[in-house]
Formats: sequence, C-alpha cells, structure tokens
Amino acid sequence: MSERTLVLIKPDGVRRGLIGDVIARIERKGLTIAAMELRQLDAETAKTHYAEHSERPFFGELVDFITSAPLVALVVEGPRAIEAFRGLAGLTDPVKSAPGTIRGDHALEIGENVVHGSDSPESAAREIKIFFPDRF
Ligand code: PPS
Repeated sequence: MSERTLVLIKPDGVRRGLIGDVIARIERKGLTIAAMELRQLDAETAKTHYAEHSERPFFGELVDFITSAPLVALVVEGPRAIEAFRGLAGLTDPVKSAPGTIRGDHALEIGENVVHGSDSPESAAREIKIFFPDRF
C-alpha cells in the first residue's frame, strides 16, 4: 500500500545547499518523488500550513522563517511514506536527533531544522492540497 507525504526542504536547507542531500536520502530509502517545486511562501499560505500551531508562542517566528526565502516542496510516495520520511528527518529538536538523520547530521536549532514532513495521513492530505492543489 503506497502512501504520500508532504516534505519541505525549509529555507535554511535551501540556503545551505542541502537540497541534493535530502533528495538523495529520500531516493536511497526507496521512496519516490511524485512532485517537486521551488517556491517562496506568502504569509497566508504559511499560516494555513502551520494552522495547528497558531496558538503557540513561536508561531510568528515560524511563519517569518518559513516565508523568509525559497523552500522546496515535495510530494514523496511509497509504503508508509509518512513514517519513513520522519525516520529520515529525525526528531524536531536536532540536538536530540540521532546522527545519520537529516536533522541529526545538519542542524542544532529547533526553529531551523532543515526539513518538514507530514505527521499523519490527515495532515499529509491537507498539506499536499495546500502546495499542489491541482495535482493529486
Ligand atoms: S508538535 O506538534 O508538538 O510535535 O510540534 P513540534 O513538532 O515540536 O513543532 C512544530 C513545528 O514548529 C517548529 N518549532 C519551532 N519553531 C520556532 N521556534 C520554536 N521554539 C519552535 N518549536 C517548534 C518545529 O520546527 C516544527 O516545524 P515543522 O516544519 O512542522 O517540522
């Protein structure tokens, strides 16, 4: 059973030249890239994407960061793709994230943690619709 997840290579990942590294890990794992786009988010789209965090104290910071420069949005597909990508990404806190994961290898700060991956089938469906409304 194939599943889709929404992956973002966040502005810090793009700025630091990590697009190729993230894509290589996705492909090495055996997942497939079903869609991909480099784009800069406007605040409205960012707030919609992160709506579930709107009451949290870091929400403004999160929106400012994700809209600050271009990101890469991908739809990644494969068996249990949501869990598979979250395994590749590591934990939200990069310091607690194991070496060998994207965040464990490349980041130190919770805010600038290189990638985002959907956390459930419901989130994946919602997020894919935000980034690729006509494709799936
Ligand atoms: S959750 O829902 O409790 O698991 O939330 P979490 O995954 O920890 O965080 C959700 C997203 O918010 C980002 N985040 C932050 N940004 C800036 N400052 C602070 N302090 C902060 N804490 C969490 C975190 O990177 C998550 O981003 P995504 O893109 O979803 O991975």
